Amino acid sequence: MGQGTPGGLNRHLPGDRKNDGDKKEKKFEPPAPPARVGRKQRKQKGPEASARVPTVTPLSKCKLRLLKLERIKDYLLMEEEFVANQERLKPQEEKTEEDRSKVDDLRGSPMSVGNLEELIDENHAIVSSSVGPEYYVGILSFVDKDQLEPGCAILMHNKVLSVVGLLQDDVDPMVSVMKVEKAPLESYADIGGLDSQIQEIKEAVELPLTHPELYEDIGIKPPKGVILYGEPGTGKTLLAKAVANSTSATFLRVVGSELIQKYLGDGPKLVRELFRVADDLSPSIVFIDEIDAIGTKRYDAHSGGEREIQRTMLELLNQLDGFDSRGDVKVILATNKIESLDPALLRPGRIDRKIEFPLPDIKTRRRIFQIHTSRMTLADDVNLEEFVMTKDEFSGADIKAICTEAGLLALRERRDTCRF
Ligand SMILES: Nc1ncnc2c1ncn2[C@@H]1O[C@H](COP(=O)(O)OP(=O)(O)O)[C@@H](O)[C@H]1O
Ligand SMILES: [Mg+2]
Repeated sequence: MGQGTPGGLNRHLPGDRKNDGDKKEKKFEPPAPPARVGRKQRKQKGPEASARVPTVTPLSKCKLRLLKLERIKDYLLMEEEFVANQERLKPQEEKTEEDRSKVDDLRGSPMSVGNLEELIDENHAIVSSSVGPEYYVGILSFVDKDQLEPGCAILMHNKVLSVVGLLQDDVDPMVSVMKVEKAPLESYADIGGLDSQIQEIKEAVELPLTHPELYEDIGIKPPKGVILYGEPGTGKTLLAKAVANSTSATFLRVVGSELIQKYLGDGPKLVRELFRVADDLSPSIVFIDEIDAIGTKRYDAHSGGEREIQRTMLELLNQLDGFDSRGDVKVILATNKIESLDPALLRPGRIDRKIEFPLPDIKTRRRIFQIHTSRMTLADDVNLEEFVMTKDEFSGADIKAICTEAGLLALRERRDTCRF
């Protein structure tokens, strides 16, 4: 072994060859030890050893490993492709992002909301906002022109007023709030007396919706609406709530004062919108409480505000008997002051039925007391007849107030029965 190794060395190392030429036989041994010191030798062997392919045995096992590695390679290739794709797609996203911010710049902020009055041509339109005049403006290219139609709500640039967008949902939020989603708790059973009133409202409002054929048989058009009038606190709102509770028709409720709007033309628009929604959701009942807020007699209106209120009422009249037939929409109005209402509103054909709510008589009073005290614990010596028979005039609301007051007093004095 000792001889073999130097032989190998002599062939590869130039330094050793020099020695070979000089003293071939004599100095054969001496150079060997330094070569065997190890460190140097190994270093010189290094590069060659690493380049050489090691022989691995046995061969058959490597086949499996090859297959395994091939699969890993496939995965890696796939991964590489995926990453490359990601990189390729990224710039596109950035580009759309850029475009979007450009569009936002063009739109400006804040955008004002207006109304489309008229489309002139592909790129121009006449618009108006609730304040001030109408404008002839351009439509930006990215607005979907198929969806633009006169009367729809649009977004406008705040300075140049060009059309930059479209408001999709054109139902006025005020109107969608008016829809009664949860039925009120009051039902017909909570109403004392008022039997004829209940029957009338059923005939005029519910029956035409549930059995229209009855009216056809007789050959009359069902009434369009009713008005409930009478002293405050006689149960008008209560009856309307009971109707809403019992009917399966859509119930829309408005208070007259809600229809009075700040800007010119908004009140009539709201009325139009209200009836349009009612028509969409028909069969439906529209209940306008405190109608005297808009329905007062027309006399010379001086201020712009009064004129606006009149316009709102005229729109209401128009909706009640206008050209668009409102088949399945019934209207209930309620007021405390029927004498101040415009006669045009009450003429037959618009509001056919006028239902009066009188102050309760003795029998009704007794009934109302029963209703309101039914869930109270009364002291033994309470004599409600005293109140029932009294000559003072009081309404259903007063009776309710008396009962509530008695309950509150009992609470204050820590009694568990109520005295009157
Ligand atoms: N006939 C009645 N039966 C039972 N409760 C009544 C009656 N009338 C009035 N009330 C009571 O008075 C309250 C106020 O009545 P409401 O209908 O709001 O009066 P208005 O006629 O002014 O709209 C009701 O919540 C109800 O509790
Ligand atoms: Mg009321």
